[in-house]
Amino acid sequence: MSGLLAGKRLLVTGVITDASIAFSVAKLAQENGAQVVLTGYGRLSLVERIAKRLPEPAPIIELDVTSPEHLAGLADRVREHVDGLDGVVHSIGFAPQSCLGGGYLDASWEDVSTALHVSTYSYKSLAVAALPLMSPGGSVVGLTFDATKAWPVYDWMGVAKAGLESASRYLALHLGKEGIRSNLVAAGPLRTMAARSIPGFEQFEDAWAERAPLGWDLTNQEPAARACLALLSDWFPATTGEIVHVDGGYHAIGA
Ligand SMILES: NC(=O)c1ccc[n+]([C@@H]2O[C@H](COP(=O)([O-])OP(=O)(O)OC[C@H]3O[C@@H](n4cnc5c(N)ncnc54)[C@H](O)[C@@H]3O)[C@@H](O)[C@H]2O)c1
Repeated sequence: MSGLLAGKRLLVTGVITDASIAFSVAKLAQENGAQVVLTGYGRLSLVERIAKRLPEPAPIIELDVTSPEHLAGLADRVREHVDGLDGVVHSIGFAPQSCLGGGYLDASWEDVSTALHVSTYSYKSLAVAALPLMSPGGSVVGLTFDATKAWPVYDWMGVAKAGLESASRYLALHLGKEGIRSNLVAAGPLRTMAARSIPGFEQFEDAWAERAPLGWDLTNQEPAARACLALLSDWFPATTGEIVHVDGGYHAIGA
């Protein structure tokens, strides 16, 4: 098998439609020589149907990333398919509607805590659950939306992403001694199911269309997926705690 990820065994979370960033990651990873195990949340039959569109069959393990039972059993479930993991992809985010679309001042702690549990704390939980299968050279990669600024309508999801960015740096700190890296890809806006759940998401679309120096295709997940592959590969061996922007250059430009 040849390709950037030849011989690598990957756990990829977050496939729900073929527009999911995780779907692009899984597809490109298989095309580049990796063996992929998927996890699915909720509608597993839907995930199974989408997985059939991948170049190779991929086993699917049920994982609610907030479930202690699912997390405790994850390594054993993965071991039924591969004898170890070289990479883990966290492509998971969720916030109740009250947390998005301008509701920042009114969202309850109960709702905010759900957003933080699913979108922030889970990054650490997933990595720790997969750790027994990982060895030096391993790579954990997650997806963020630039959290250095307060965006209109992103509200508590923005806070969750700021936490995710910090959580990735702390994971880099704590797993460095195991030789395991932790990095994030900060993607520009992409039309996925998660994006559709954000009221006013079109404001991001318009801003990117106007200002991204390289331009920006809202329906092309491949640039973000390619960056994930690079970070999962052996070509960033001394990079951890990093955030790679895949946003057409938007983050670098003043208003
Ligand atoms: N779409 C964008 O504009 C954009 C931009 C930057 C970053 N991101 C991030 O990319 C990641 C993937 O999102 P996407 O845009 O591909 O959308 P998506 O809707 O395709 O994927 C989100 C995934 O999160 C999963 N999920 C939700 N709750 C879960 C739980 N409790 N346990 C396990 N999985 C759960 C869903 O099943 C789904 O597969 C998210 O972290 C998102 O915030 C998205």
